[in-house]
Amino acid sequence: MRLALLLPSLCGLIAACGPAPQARIDPFTKSGEVIALSGGRGGAANACFGCHGLAGQGDGVAAPRLAGLDAGYLQKQLDDYASGLRPDPTMQPAVRWLSPDDRRAVAAHYGAMAAPMTGRPSLSTPPVWLDGDARRGVIACAVCHGDDGRGVGAANPALAGQPAGYTLEQIRRWQAAKRRNDARGVMAIAVAQVTPLEASAIAGWLERQPASPRPYSDAASLSAAEAAAAQLAASRGTRRPGR
Ligand code: HEC
Ligand code: HEC
Repeated sequence: MRLALLLPSLCGLIAACGPAPQARIDPFTKSGEVIALSGGRGGAANACFGCHGLAGQGDGVAAPRLAGLDAGYLQKQLDDYASGLRPDPTMQPAVRWLSPDDRRAVAAHYGAMAAPMTGRPSLSTPPVWLDGDARRGVIACAVCHGDDGRGVGAANPALAGQPAGYTLEQIRRWQAAKRRNDARGVMAIAVAQVTPLEASAIAGWLERQPASPRPYSDAASLSAAEAAAAQLAASRGTRRPGR
């Protein structure tokens, strides 16, 4: 519906604007919007907006913001819930009804939405986020998630603006080997030596970080994140996460 309202104004901006743009946009983002608002074949109880908000902003507690996250990242998470690779008692029933095309469409819908505004004063960045701790083998989270939490490239997600409860829960699940869906198992090792106090500080700081800038995509940031992932992946087997 929002899209239908938006199209005429978009047409004002695009020179050759016939019926074609609508036909191009519709099949995807439009059906994604329908799923977000209706739950698709899962019905109203599984409508995404009921938990993630009409603007995709999240519920401030346990349901993360989806608006403005990378569409490929979102689709991967939906695929992982559907396949059971990322087990979760709330999300698995919600995605069970969605076909792969539905998942792609609803991910594209949320990826295209504007990131929500936080408008709260930010806290100072936790030292472990920026610098890690060489003694414990903790790599700076900033290398992969950005100094400000906006993410790096498509695979290392933005965490800025996520509810603190959600972020803390994800860290705990990795430490307990309950979430293990990232490609090379880097996150379990990245947070293995993070203390509960550090995790709380990180989660509280991230919640207040502005969600709006797109992830870093410059070559230097991408290659630094890749080098960190390679280092963590190489240390698998020599270190046991969740000890
Ligand atoms: C009943 C509430 C509820 C409904 C309905 C729901 N979600 Fe969620 N969603 C959650 C919660 C809670 C989480 C966090 C789960 C976890 O910790 O893995 C979540 C997590 C997610 C994530 C992971 C985001 C990330 O940053 O990793 C995605 C993507 C997502 N939901 C998309 C959807 C879509 C699309 C729909 C509709 C088809 C939907 N959700 C319906 C509550 C809900
Ligand atoms: C080598 C790169 C790398 C480092 C270092 C790293 N992360 Fe991650 N992180 C990732 C990737 C990749 C994912 C996405 C995993 C997936 O696909 O599900 C992720 C996901 C997350 C998520 C879940 C996001 C969501 O929306 O569900 C949290 C929270 C997180 N990281 C916190 C941290 C913290 C805290 C640190 C530092 C102690 C850290 N990460 C260090 C690569 C990294």
